[in-house]
Amino acid sequence: MPPHVTPALELRAVSKAYRIGGRRTDVLVDFDFSMDAGEFVVVTGPSGAGKSTLLHLAGGLDAPDRGTVAVAGRDVWSVGAGARAAFRRRNLGFVFQFFNLVPMLSAVENVSLPLVLDGVPARSADARGVELLERVGLGDHLRHRPAELSGGQMQRVAVARALAARPSIVLADEPTGNLDSHSSTEVLDLLRSLADEEHTAVVLVTHDRDAVRYGTRELHLVDGRTRPSTAPGGEV
Ligand SMILES: Nc1ncnc2c1ncn2[C@@H]1O[C@H](COP(=O)(O)OP(=O)(O)O)[C@@H](O)[C@H]1O
Ligand SMILES: [Mg+2]
Repeated sequence: MPPHVTPALELRAVSKAYRIGGRRTDVLVDFDFSMDAGEFVVVTGPSGAGKSTLLHLAGGLDAPDRGTVAVAGRDVWSVGAGARAAFRRRNLGFVFQFFNLVPMLSAVENVSLPLVLDGVPARSADARGVELLERVGLGDHLRHRPAELSGGQMQRVAVARALAARPSIVLADEPTGNLDSHSSTEVLDLLRSLADEEHTAVVLVTHDRDAVRYGTRELHLVDGRTRPSTAPGGEV
């Protein structure tokens, strides 16, 4: 028998609907998904397909109506809000379209912030921040604030921050949606290589078909359901 491997992320029979003004939208219906450490899943699909909803559920930011969400074998919603926040800091990294860096903090302070919040001593949090910024090519921008960086550089800081706590999984929602094509390639190359080196699973949401080639697997969502898709890099 093969050894049992705990999935980095597992959604079982997850349903999620939103209600606005009495109108109900079923976003995910009986949705199953599982991925292992070392996988890089690229989620594609039209606007409104439920891609961001999937990431919010996976990241413990939004609760499923039914079903279970487990990260590194732990049911995210079986614990209270405080424990969930601590679990998120240690096990999940996020990269957003608009970077979400703290404007008043330097690049290295932004990267080490998740560690500092988790009680890691300042000196080792800072060392991890410096190491990651060097690996994303920003070793000479450690003390720059976000406003003093380009979009591509800010997103490289955000990628470094997402990996700072050595999470099981990084969730990235349209991380290149606000970047030019050169910076997009740079950011996705870095995300892929750092995730490989750190053995971190990645879920990348994008509507950039070119990004599919970065993945080990594509998940094509239409109306909250998985649709057959081609191998990474293939034609639809
Ligand atoms: N917080 C929310 N409240 C109400 N409806 C929402 C909310 N978030 C998403 N939706 C709806 O759920 C559907 C899926 O949205 P989303 O997951 O953002 O899609 P995608 O990221 O694929 O564009 C859309 O119809 C959207 O309008
Ligand atoms: Mg979205």
